[in-house]
Amino acid sequence: MVPPRQAIPEEEYAATPGVEDCMTHTIGLIGAGHIGSQIARAAVAAGHDVVISNSRGPETLQDLAAELGPSARAATPAEAAAAADLAVVTIPLKAIDSVPVEPLAGTTVIDTNNYYPQRDGHVDSLDDESTTSSELLQAHLPGSHVVKAFNHIGSAHITEHAQPTGSAGRRALSIAGDDAAAKAAVAAFIDEIGFDVVDLGPLAEGWRIQPDTPGYGPRLTSAELREATDAARRRG
Ligand SMILES: NC(=O)c1ccc[n+]([C@@H]2O[C@H](COP(=O)([O-])OP(=O)(O)OC[C@H]3O[C@@H](n4cnc5c(N)ncnc54)[C@H](OP(=O)(O)O)[C@@H]3O)[C@@H](O)[C@H]2O)c1
Repeated sequence: MVPPRQAIPEEEYAATPGVEDCMTHTIGLIGAGHIGSQIARAAVAAGHDVVISNSRGPETLQDLAAELGPSARAATPAEAAAAADLAVVTIPLKAIDSVPVEPLAGTTVIDTNNYYPQRDGHVDSLDDESTTSSELLQAHLPGSHVVKAFNHIGSAHITEHAQPTGSAGRRALSIAGDDAAAKAAVAAFIDEIGFDVVDLGPLAEGWRIQPDTPGYGPRLTSAELREATDAARRRG
């Protein structure tokens, strides 16, 4: 893995091709449960700063912040959103209407969410497949660039399955989104924390990796994940 930006002398920084991919960023997490805490651990290990938040308040996140160390702090969702170079929304789908809108304007937002009607309640537009869960978040955040990612990997595997770039059999994670620069930023982050990337295309294609599709869950290489997502069929 490439060292974080602060390890590179300034004069070398400008001259190093592709080094912009390994700058230290602030990752702002809205949700710090199973997935949020694991993405925070991976981000800190890759040299990033993280701001974690949940619904109950920063005082309930002190143990996790202490575990993550000096590059992490706990805050409110609005503060995490405002601090984020790259934001992550990783809360139950039924809570997405509470995600702060204005502080995320112009920001790339990773959406890890999945639709489980038994947990989230029925959403007609998801049941009739006229939209997808990530498009709902994008509609809530019209000024942000939503990229669907991390929705198909079990939380423990975010750290357990990570491998350096170029490793044989490296696991791949998918991305879907409508903004090329946002997808490039998310792809660089995913690579940094240990995974290959498969681009599914626009956000509307995110259904190819939703629950009950072949790519949802198993450890797959990029070729295998591409095959699985190509083979996905809509429920209806
Ligand atoms: N678990 C997995 O392996 C996995 C894998 C892939 C994708 N996902 C998806 O990722 C999302 C998160 O899953 P999870 O397993 O991490 O859930 P989780 O363990 O239940 O954690 C949810 C987090 O969201 C926070 N939260 C809830 N409502 C919020 C709100 N209105 N504002 C800010 N934070 C809020 C919770 O904080 P409080 O505790 O303070 O309410 C908690 O930190 C879900 O959509 C899930 O389907 C999960």
